[in-house]
Amino acid sequence: MTKEFVFKYRHYQSKEALSKDDQELLAHAQASMGQAYAPYSKFQVGASLLLKSGKIILGNNQENIAYPSGLCAERVALFYAGANFPDDPVVKICITSQGELMPEESYLSPCGSCRQVLLESQARQQSPIEILLVQRSGQILAIDSVQNLLPFGFTK
Ligand code: THU
Repeated sequence: MTKEFVFKYRHYQSKEALSKDDQELLAHAQASMGQAYAPYSKFQVGASLLLKSGKIILGNNQENIAYPSGLCAERVALFYAGANFPDDPVVKICITSQGELMPEESYLSPCGSCRQVLLESQARQQSPIEILLVQRSGQILAIDSVQNLLPFGFTK
């Protein structure tokens, strides 16, 4: 028997099509991206989290001369939230990027390790995390749950 996994996501032509709150979250991700420490890849990533309380948590990629010691923007933000606001669920995450590593029309979609951490955050708080992926030229994809980015993921 062949089974199928499909999911729906939303596409926005530009940030103006987003709600005011989402536009604000995106602006925070972009500001955070500008503060990334990425001297080796020269690829800057910003992540902003909206917590249920309304707090916004920021992260950006932090690189190291010993390359594997660095960490992605998403995990910097998620681990900060987990460490400081463990009982405040993450409602959504917005991710932006800039640099020559990826063409303008690409969406930075979280790496496998960040998906795994997102999945654990979602499982831990027992509520879905929405993911907003932002293209450099301005289009946006909105995905309703981490489950869609990591089907058959490793969870309890
Ligand atoms: N990076 C992120 O911050 N998030 C991702 O989802 C993918 C990659 C960072 C890691 C490294 O500092 C740089 O982008 C190039 O891979």
